[in-house]
Amino acid sequence: MKAIASAPAKTILFGEHSVVYDEPAIAGAVNKRAYVEITKSDRDKSILRSYDLNFEVELDTKHKKYILKKGKPGIIRYILEALNRVHDHTPIEMTLSSSVPIGSGLGSSAAVTVATLAALYRYHNIRFNKKSLAHDAHMVEQAVQGVASPLDTLVSTYGGLVYLSRNKKVEHFKVNFNVPFVVGYTHKHGNTGKIVKDVRNLKNNNPKIINPVITSMGNLTNYAKQAILKGDFKKVGELMNINHGFLDVLGVNTLELSRMVYVARGAGAIGSKITGAGGGGSIIALCPDKVNEVARAINKSDNVLKIRFTRKGVSSRV
Ligand code: MEV
Repeated sequence: MKAIASAPAKTILFGEHSVVYDEPAIAGAVNKRAYVEITKSDRDKSILRSYDLNFEVELDTKHKKYILKKGKPGIIRYILEALNRVHDHTPIEMTLSSSVPIGSGLGSSAAVTVATLAALYRYHNIRFNKKSLAHDAHMVEQAVQGVASPLDTLVSTYGGLVYLSRNKKVEHFKVNFNVPFVVGYTHKHGNTGKIVKDVRNLKNNNPKIINPVITSMGNLTNYAKQAILKGDFKKVGELMNINHGFLDVLGVNTLELSRMVYVARGAGAIGSKITGAGGGGSIIALCPDKVNEVARAINKSDNVLKIRFTRKGVSSRV
């Protein structure tokens, strides 16, 4: 018996941080995926390995403890949480591969969590649908991280470009937003929980200044929704630049992120901003005609990925 599943990574285009205060957000699945394969093991222990992430761990029968044979598998906490919720502790071999660089700010943990749960449900012949899977994956992320919005796991499950409204209604864009983006990442992974807390403190200490900023970020996201629906990339870029300014106001910018944002604009990006929590992590640049120039300019001292949005969400089979 073999079960296979994959799920896409995501990037937030608009609304990080303001989404925590129930403002809208727009995020999309990207053409980088996590893949999980599960087979029955003849050994008395379960093995979890990844050749491309270069780790191997042995799990005890209760999946409470693991022995690290090779590498540094930070992602394993998500896999253990998923196993403890779904798996019956019989020995399995699980292989993870990923074209999503861990810590690139593209939601690698959500992609791995969604793919792991889908593969486990297939392996155990448990019925599921996208709604239940997105919910269960969000529970896993929340258990591991303490704080998590449902956005990442939702996008990794459904694929496509998603608009999350003020009252948490999910709308899937029907338009084809097939423009190239460049993601620049620093390898300095920001601590999302701490950054979200710092923003809350700033907001609580300066409500008259920060509350209108958060509301403006929500309004901006709604303008961006209209611009995407019209295919008006110039407007999307302009709004990305304003959004970056607001994120700077919230104190989540860093020297490295700032540098990449302006290098990208200097090389021809029509919009560039922090994507995700900030404090490290990544920027995203919209560059319909200048993808190679922007990628090259950022790549001089940081890591870079060329990405596109994809409609393909989770996929699984036995
Ligand atoms: C992190 O990817 C996005 C934040 O808005 C936090 C969240 O929504 O949970 C900063």
